[in-house]
Amino acid sequence: MKRTITLTVNGTERQLTVEDHWLLSDVLREQLKLYGVREGCGTAVCGSCTVLVNGAPIASCLTLAARLDGARIETIEGLSQGPRLHPVQEAFLEERAFQCGYCTPGYILAVKALLEELPDADEEETKHYLAGNYCRCAGYQDILRAVGSARLKLAQQRAATTS
Ligand code: FES
Ligand code: FES
Repeated sequence: MKRTITLTVNGTERQLTVEDHWLLSDVLREQLKLYGVREGCGTAVCGSCTVLVNGAPIASCLTLAARLDGARIETIEGLSQGPRLHPVQEAFLEERAFQCGYCTPGYILAVKALLEELPDADEEETKHYLAGNYCRCAGYQDILRAVGSARLKLAQQRAATTS
């Protein structure tokens, strides 16, 4: 059955007509042309299709768009502010925490959610939180270093806005 849903995608309200069985990853890629939502395993294992739904990371490849009426969706395309990258994006670049980059949008969104939910997460908590994201080519140590660098940048940003 077709229905019309409203999603706020990267800050913009969108009305979309979707079939009940359409997956969020397909809707974001095919209707909204948000190709930073990567297709990988299609079985909620690799994390490459991760997007944030109301701030929480989810596998968009196994999520039905029709169930998300009224939700707020963030994809990698919505993270930077004009030419200014988000601190997590800056950290991944500075630490060279990617090679082919296929997994990177999903990782960056998962790390953004982690650092909002658990700003002081230790290494074990970080690994646990990111267990649903796989990288087949970069070193996980580089990714963990990027998480540490992003944590610092966000803490400095918070301190600057409260002083
Ligand atoms: S493509 Fe969705 S988790 Fe792999
Ligand atoms: S950088 Fe290639 S899969 Fe992660």
